[in-house]
Amino acid sequence: MAFKYGGKVDFPITVTLGRGLEGAITNESSIGYVDGQEGKLVYRGYDVADLAEHSSFEETAYLLIFGKLPQKDELDEFDRQLKENRDIDPKIIDILKKLPTTAHPMSKLEVAVSSLGCFDPITINNVEIGTQAGIKLISKLASVTAMLARIRKNQDIIAPRKDLRHAENFMYMISGEIPDELTTKVMDMALILHADHGMNASTFTSMVVASTLSDMYSAICAGICSLKGPLHGGANEFSLENLIKLTSETEARKWVQDCIKNKVKIMGFGHRIYKVYDPRARIFKRYAKEICEQAGKSDLYKIAEVVEDEVVKAYGSKGIFPNVDFYSGLIYNSLGIDTSLFTPIFAVSRVAGWVARILEYLPNSRIFRPRAVYTGPTDLKYTPMEER
Ligand code: CMC
Repeated sequence: MAFKYGGKVDFPITVTLGRGLEGAITNESSIGYVDGQEGKLVYRGYDVADLAEHSSFEETAYLLIFGKLPQKDELDEFDRQLKENRDIDPKIIDILKKLPTTAHPMSKLEVAVSSLGCFDPITINNVEIGTQAGIKLISKLASVTAMLARIRKNQDIIAPRKDLRHAENFMYMISGEIPDELTTKVMDMALILHADHGMNASTFTSMVVASTLSDMYSAICAGICSLKGPLHGGANEFSLENLIKLTSETEARKWVQDCIKNKVKIMGFGHRIYKVYDPRARIFKRYAKEICEQAGKSDLYKIAEVVEDEVVKAYGSKGIFPNVDFYSGLIYNSLGIDTSLFTPIFAVSRVAGWVARILEYLPNSRIFRPRAVYTGPTDLKYTPMEER
């Protein structure tokens, strides 16, 4: 939408207003590239499909933050720091236990990150301190999320283990059992696939907060608040909830038709940038089939395929295809993870991208300060109450 300014404004120019900042450029970055036309996602030059296949979350987080694939000693040291930081102060666990059981884990995660910041009151205004805080947060977000899963079910907290890999320890802290190889592989892959995605709402939110030179904990907490919404990270929960209500293929097709007729958005589909199939969804779909079969949930997978088929038939020409949130939920559900934990898991991964982008911006940081197009009057005279 183009606006021609006139009247009492301080910059008489024509501007283009993209609703939801569509088309706006915030900064330069060499962290990741989302190719919405080709359906490709790149982290630091590497195709995410390759990373999902061959890398680990630890290595991918290192890549995002430090800009290169690590040498063995570099990865060992990074991994050591992640492991060392897994513990959560018992006072924070007490705070989390006192919150209402019914509160959404994302709200509790906000409290947890703010609390972590209270126990580690450091600032973000240099890269070194920000990096230390970032590594702590990447480590601790996984521990806290697993603890929230257990608190929600009134189960005892399981202490982290320092001999397990990040994804492995995360699943162990949720279930109390060391996961099998496929489960670890799939969770690791899920964490890799969600780790960064351009200037999405939560990344932008956390960067805006960091651009004020606020601390890393506040910036990451803000990212979590933004990720929670159903149009962003929260879509994975809503998507799965819709799917599990459908009991047959006929019902699934009818449900999609009803959504289309009533102009209801179907969660897990569509994307601002991708106008073709989301490359992450393609990878999740492949694993979802296998994991659903293994969990005896092939019917759920079939329902999902039918929903995809109907949605793409109706909206494919508009560039609406499954996004990352459609098949990931099937995988988590088949791994026995509660739906309310899906978005927190997104945060456990995306924190790596938030940290990387904040640290990249920091050396030349300038406070984000866009403007709104003011459409109201500028010359009203104040009227006292009795004269209105
Ligand atoms: N179901 C039905 N119609 C849709 C959908 C959908 N999921 N997504 C977009 N559309 C339609 C929308 O109704 C609009 O149609 P029209 O032009 O006729 O008014 C058109 O496509 C453009 O939609 P929009 O909402 O203006 O697109 P956007 O770029 O602002 O929003 C989106 C992108 C992801 C918010 C949107 O596609 C959506 O709401 N999807 C459902 C929620 C979801 O799955 N979110 C997760 C996104 S991926 C992971 C993440 O970023 O967290």
